[in-house]
Amino acid sequence: MPVIQYGESLYPDDSVEREVYGPGPELRWGPGKTLADIPDVDAATAEGLLVLGQWVTAADLARFPRLRVVVRMGVGYDRIDRAACAARNILVCNVPDYGTMEVAEHAVVAALALRRGLFLYHETQRADPPAPWRFIDAGKLVRRSEVQTFGIIGLGRIGTAAALRAKAFGFRVVFYDPHRPNGSDRAIGVARARTLEELLRQSDVLSVHAPLTPETKGMLGMEQLALLPDGAVVVNTARGPIIDLAALETLLREGRIAGAALDVLPVEPPVEPVPDLLRAYRAREKWLEGRLLITPHSAFQTPQSWDDIRRKSAETMAAALLSNAPQNVIPPDSY
Ligand code: NAI
Repeated sequence: MPVIQYGESLYPDDSVEREVYGPGPELRWGPGKTLADIPDVDAATAEGLLVLGQWVTAADLARFPRLRVVVRMGVGYDRIDRAACAARNILVCNVPDYGTMEVAEHAVVAALALRRGLFLYHETQRADPPAPWRFIDAGKLVRRSEVQTFGIIGLGRIGTAAALRAKAFGFRVVFYDPHRPNGSDRAIGVARARTLEELLRQSDVLSVHAPLTPETKGMLGMEQLALLPDGAVVVNTARGPIIDLAALETLLREGRIAGAALDVLPVEPPVEPVPDLLRAYRAREKWLEGRLLITPHSAFQTPQSWDDIRRKSAETMAAALLSNAPQNVIPPDSY
């Protein structure tokens, strides 16, 4: 029976995995955080590999000569060298359906919280001394949902769930996604922008839900963000490198962007020297008060989504390695 290797030791026991795989396969749990921590002797025999946050490079793969399947225990697979996997006919699968609602809700709720001034009040009411017991004129930040357009980049699973939620709160919703077929707009009653520029010019809230690909990396730089209406709010729960943080910071400082919520950063976890925007946020600089929310790539997380990741990852590995009906396969030539 094949050997299935997990990139790290994740759970107190293997009860769920045994339920899914049965008694046959040998299960191994990585002793550290990276694939380099897995001893050569274990790497040499593993046929299935499951990774959560680990990178899978060509050099890593060279240590796994018998590998047949890599399962990314999440949606994004930008840390896996898929070309190197394809060259060895190693199947790459993801787990697309564990945190769709969580991420969508995180994005929409973050936008709503910024637009209602919740972070601003939270910070100022517990300041020393606390702010006066009255509303604050928050300038461009606070705004009624019904007068706003909620712009979505990437109308996939999470983008669709975000669109439906934003719609329910009264936003006009528009999306840009060149890969979606005609009629995707009609199916859920939202508008479609044919170009990124068309989307940006009308998005009072911009929420990013596209994967990180060569096409989307850096797709929101100064030129693009400057097209947003005055006082827009930007939310990124997708991948950090899609947005140029320096450009976002400049526009926040100038007040042309009113607020932002970032669950993802260009480098995760952030390393010194951290981006200026993160430094200003951590230093609680006054100009940013109530205008920036940072969360540590936690948009997906609930106990329920975590349970789903565990079971669905094992099911995906079992389907690919132990049966002839693989699921969630990422085509080697897809973005
Ligand atoms: P999905 O594959 O269902 O949807 C992605 C959509 O983006 C697709 O419809 C695709 O056509 C579109 N897209 C691709 N290139 C584009 C481009 N250049 N411009 C506009 N749209 C483009 O993926 P899903 O499940 O909705 O997840 C989206 C992303 O969210 C993931 O790739 C991942 O990076 C991120 N994510 C973040 C999490 C978090 O905790 N912060 C958790 C899960 C996913």
